[in-house]
Amino acid sequence: MLGSGKGSNFVAIAEAIAAGRIPARVSVVVSDVPDAGILKHAADRGIPSRHIAPGAFRTKLDEAAEAAFIAALREARADWVLLAGFMRILKGEFLRAYEGRVINIHPSLLPSFPGLAAWKQALDYGVKVTGCTVHLVDQGVDTGAILGQQAVPVRDGDTAETLHARIQDAERALYPEVVAALVRGEIRVRGRLTTGFSR
Ligand code: GAR
Repeated sequence: MLGSGKGSNFVAIAEAIAAGRIPARVSVVVSDVPDAGILKHAADRGIPSRHIAPGAFRTKLDEAAEAAFIAALREARADWVLLAGFMRILKGEFLRAYEGRVINIHPSLLPSFPGLAAWKQALDYGVKVTGCTVHLVDQGVDTGAILGQQAVPVRDGDTAETLHARIQDAERALYPEVVAALVRGEIRVRGRLTTGFSR
């Protein structure tokens, strides 16, 4: 699992695994942020965790960092790469190394509101329903095939914080369920179209 932030999605998946709801294990957690909460949560659970410096760019990994991320995942024998609040765009070599096996959770109902702070984009736009999306990562930004989604209402008086918190509750329910279906081989992907998961 790769993450840059506090790690609530990592915790939800680790707890689902511990409860026997996902037939998998987290082989390594890697972060581009040295003091990210996700690294601490991993260490607390005895899961190997490492920081790898991302290099000079702000929104992606440089070539050396990309190679180091791939090497860390290969060393850990990862079958899937789950992004859990990983705030850098993965492209090229990385996606070739793990083609069709990189999954992301995004805090909106894609294709609405791709990119940063999607809950704020939804609030500013004035939609009444938003949510979260688990999707395959492709070369675009938040454009890969959709594996699962959950709707979340926008309530009168919501702030960016209250709406994000409600979306994160939904993420913590949705992401483990989609991952469980995925590793059980229940989800079929044909181009953009996927079957085998709905809620
Ligand atoms: C989550 O809300 C996730 O959807 C978002 O970052 C947060 C990470 O929280 N990801 C993106 O915006 C990716 N573009 P967490 O560290 O508590 O799991």
